[in-house]
Amino acid sequence: MNFRLLKPKHMEMTMTMNNNYIKRLIFSFLAVALIAVPSTVFAAVPDGVKKDLLEKGKKVYFKRCVWCHGIEGGGDGPSADRLFTRPRNFIQGTFKIRTTDSGELPMEADLITTVRNGLQGSAMPAWGEFLAEDEILAVVEFVKTLVQDRDFDDTEDEEVFVQDFGTNPWGTKGPYHLGVPQADIDAGKEIFTKNKCFECHGGEGRGDGNPTMKDDWGFPIVAADWQQCWNFRGARRDPFNPFHIVRTISTGMNGTPMPNFKDQIIVEDRWKIAAFVNSLCPRKKIDLLTNKPIPDFLIQSVYTEGKVSPKIDDPSWQSPDTDDRIDAPTDDAILENPKRHYIAMAGQITRGKRNFDPKTDNLWVTTRWSEEEQAVYYLVEYHLRFLSDDPEYPDSVAIQWPAKLQELYGAEKPYFILGDAKKPVDLWKANFMPKDYSATAAPKPEGYQLDVSVEELVGYGFDALSAKESEGKVEIVDSIYKQGRVKILFKRSLATEGEFDVQIPTEQFIPVAFMQWAGRDKEKDEVMAISTWYYTILKPALPDSLYYMPPIMAAVFVCFQGWVIWMTKRTRKMYDEGKVRRDELPK
Ligand code: HEC
Ligand code: HEC
Repeated sequence: MNFRLLKPKHMEMTMTMNNNYIKRLIFSFLAVALIAVPSTVFAAVPDGVKKDLLEKGKKVYFKRCVWCHGIEGGGDGPSADRLFTRPRNFIQGTFKIRTTDSGELPMEADLITTVRNGLQGSAMPAWGEFLAEDEILAVVEFVKTLVQDRDFDDTEDEEVFVQDFGTNPWGTKGPYHLGVPQADIDAGKEIFTKNKCFECHGGEGRGDGNPTMKDDWGFPIVAADWQQCWNFRGARRDPFNPFHIVRTISTGMNGTPMPNFKDQIIVEDRWKIAAFVNSLCPRKKIDLLTNKPIPDFLIQSVYTEGKVSPKIDDPSWQSPDTDDRIDAPTDDAILENPKRHYIAMAGQITRGKRNFDPKTDNLWVTTRWSEEEQAVYYLVEYHLRFLSDDPEYPDSVAIQWPAKLQELYGAEKPYFILGDAKKPVDLWKANFMPKDYSATAAPKPEGYQLDVSVEELVGYGFDALSAKESEGKVEIVDSIYKQGRVKILFKRSLATEGEFDVQIPTEQFIPVAFMQWAGRDKEKDEVMAISTWYYTILKPALPDSLYYMPPIMAAVFVCFQGWVIWMTKRTRKMYDEGKVRRDELPK
């Protein structure tokens, strides 16, 4: 069994994974399955035509789906316990993603689309990548037979029909956000406030409104983070398409606290609120294999001649990312600010106690370096719905560097999880706790100050991580937790005396990696989210020539064109005068 199928989210990290344990689990499970299935599931097979289809669907199910969804479709396969959200229990016939009214069964087409596209942000893969279309139809037919509490064929007393969602008033083709008037987005924001979506989704849509929700199966559930629309269950691998949001608000998500607003919000207004929700999601290119944004593998640190502002609120730290409208810059100067770089994170699942279920799957990193201070600043930010208030499990985030950068050749790098015996890593780790915070209290609009402590560690491999003996040089100069987002600003001088401190050169590619621990979910030590190695570079000052060259180049070009025209005319004239032959004429 390819572990990829179990959790595509972790694909990047799974290459090195030792999956013997999983294999054993699966084999023992298969043995049980083969004995138990025929009698339990197939007590009543429908007649004639469907029989072949069902046989085929059953085969697909027991090859592909049973690991998560269980032998009888109870959502209790061998992988189920490690997954959040858990695999669907089919028995009650409760389905989240539908075009039908709240509480209804889905249309067959809904299930087919779900199986083909998967449920983003959960472990449910996009089966269109692995199965033929007829296998998908067959397995859906089979899944319907696993539903016991409701009857798909019994439409006598309940009419199941597709709702009217209207049509996208701004055009049905992507990129969808172009051409949506700001007035409609603003109107959408008002509808959002009026309908109190923030009670669950938080004031800025990061899903940080309510930490105590449960789904109908009794498991904890959190509201969707609108600023990470690629994780919308019903995104159908087309996360920027507002139709999916309109569908969600119109139908609700059965089995979850997500209500339907069909009667409260008229369909035209549902499109406006969808435009607002959609406007919060940064427009990144999505990788169709992982269904996540493509990471920015080069993190560019922008040159600053004087001092860098140590305040996160300072305009010099504001992102020029115009797509992220909540942070939308108002000032031209901001367009020259450093870019926010997207870093993909995955659960650490190769060593020790594994983390199949990290709460954060990405970070954003913005960086500047100061010539005057001879120092670097890395602003690390990420979304986290709720923080820990347990001092034994603080929240943490770390930046990892090769400790002996100057001794590495070419593309050589230490092992990405805490280094190896030959190539140690230098880890800057910030541990923090919010002040006066309670996850269940209404969030403070101004955010929470953090109590931060820094650890500087040296790693010679997974089991060989220790505090450095040299005096600490890394500072956290500012930090904040606000509306479901953590921001931590690291600072360090480029050069230090410490034996295991990375010595940071300018104008050179330096490997860098990130780690993050969610305290509220008891993540600690090896139970963490990690990135692979990225590269960072301290860019040189823009040469002055960049400023005066463009006008000069333009002038040169204009002169050159003039010269070409003059030459052409002159040659023609010479031809007319019989001084050159026809084949010497410019074409
Ligand atoms: C790696 C685990 C995994 C495998 C394998 C898997 N699923 Fe799922 N599936 C899930 C999870 C998790 C959910 C629930 C996600 C959620 O509720 O947000 C789910 C939900 C579903 C749903 C419910 C959709 C809805 O609207 O509520 C259907 C239908 C489904 N899976 C079909 C299948 C079929 C068919 C297969 C095999 C071809 C399959 N799954 C294989 C994990 C898996
Ligand atoms: C009572 C809490 C609650 C309220 C109020 C609420 N939501 Fe949700 N919403 C949820 C939960 C919980 C989920 C996640 C369900 C899941 O992951 O299965 C969700 C998911 C979503 C999603 C993602 C759908 C997907 O495909 O995964 C969107 C979009 C959304 N809500 C929009 C809204 C809008 C717009 C409003 C206000 C009009 C709203 N919600 C009000 C709880 C709520």
